[in-house]
Amino acid sequence: MSKKTKVNALILGSGGREHALGFKLKQSKRCGKLYFAPGNGGTAALGTNLTDLPFDPVNTKNADAIDYFCRKNDVSLIVIGPEDPLCGGLADRLATPGASDRHVFGPVQAGARLEADKVFSKQLMRATSVPTADAKTFTDYEAAVNYVENRETPVVVKAAGLAKGKGVIVCDNNDEALDALKQCMVDLAFGDAGRTVIVEERLVGQEVSILALVDGRNIFVLDPTQDHKQVGEGDTGPNTGGMGAYCPTPLVNDALMSTIQSEVLVPIVDALRRDGTEFKGVLYAGLMLTAGGPKVLEFNTRFGDPECQPLMMRLKGDLIDIMIATCEGTLDEVDLGWDPRCCCCVVLASGGYPGSYEKGKTITGIEDAETDPDVKVFHAGTESGKDGAVVTAGGRVLSVCAMGDNLKDAQQKANAACEKIHFEGAFSRTDIGFRVM
Ligand code: AMP
Ligand code: GLY
Repeated sequence: MSKKTKVNALILGSGGREHALGFKLKQSKRCGKLYFAPGNGGTAALGTNLTDLPFDPVNTKNADAIDYFCRKNDVSLIVIGPEDPLCGGLADRLATPGASDRHVFGPVQAGARLEADKVFSKQLMRATSVPTADAKTFTDYEAAVNYVENRETPVVVKAAGLAKGKGVIVCDNNDEALDALKQCMVDLAFGDAGRTVIVEERLVGQEVSILALVDGRNIFVLDPTQDHKQVGEGDTGPNTGGMGAYCPTPLVNDALMSTIQSEVLVPIVDALRRDGTEFKGVLYAGLMLTAGGPKVLEFNTRFGDPECQPLMMRLKGDLIDIMIATCEGTLDEVDLGWDPRCCCCVVLASGGYPGSYEKGKTITGIEDAETDPDVKVFHAGTESGKDGAVVTAGGRVLSVCAMGDNLKDAQQKANAACEKIHFEGAFSRTDIGFRVM
């Protein structure tokens, strides 16, 4: 595709990640019309939210309807944000063989399997000697119980399939592990995703998220991020989708980054290619930095949420060029470029999250928070209410991002911005980045 052509883009998803991707795509000199399906209360300001489609756009089942929409509206770039449609094969279904005028950003199903199927992912890591926690897979409950009862060191129990980030139970002792097995395999708390479980050695160390753009062959590692998954200050309480993230993290220096590239990312991308899968899109390694070096906790095959938000705040390159180059296998021809400053993203959540919470609360103060030019508020669980008001519609409501000369500065600005935003029951963590401060 000529670099002069205007590009109409469709972004699938409704989170802070999708708002941030839209914000960055919109800055491209090539950006034509932007569509979000379904989008949220914030994306409506960047383009058109397709909220009244007669089908669910974030479902592989509806690929034909999405395809039709794209043809009718001359959409040539489709960005698939969340994991479910990728793992269901939506990218495969939307790719038009032989047509160079459509680009689908996101891996094919065989690539997304790295995220969808933890057993496959573990086997691939073993086959390629990628460092990861020792683990055993079980489909038989009694066998799993027997294994856990005879272990002396703590384990982590993981549902093998997709469980909206909730299928991982970190256990302090065998009783907790037995309870976790029962939840997964007997009570089917995660549905079919938990019929097969992985019981894994519990690792200790700092966690980092390393995201890379992969164009089938070239791997471009993005600046390192750290997210905070637990709901409470000091990383306490239950896991959530992510309560905040910052970028870059000093935990990963250039030397460690090259180790991660050569020992983790390259072997996985090469192994997939040997098996006939060209991985194109984002490969995200969730890593634990242990005393014995970095070890993989999981792979995701999409941008992390909230990691994407600080990455997009700092990315200088043209995202349309970057995404198309990823699809065309020409990443070596584009510049990413990073703002040298730090970005801290703090999630404002609904009272009760990650448990049950109420929706429909009116949100005020976003404009006030954004009067600081270093602050940007991405919407996640919001929608447009009556009279133009924005109301809450999810657990993670807003991603409040701030740039700063250093992490402390960025964190303070993000926290100050959160103070200006109000809705009933709102809460956030004030300590995002504390592990390195
Ligand atoms: P995952 O979805 O596999 O990344 O797991 C969710 C969270 O569980 C991770 O972010 C870690 O905090 C924790 N976790 C997963 N695997 C392990 C492990 N082997 N040892 C310790 N913590 C883990
Ligand atoms: N922030 C973790 C994830 O997106 O899976």
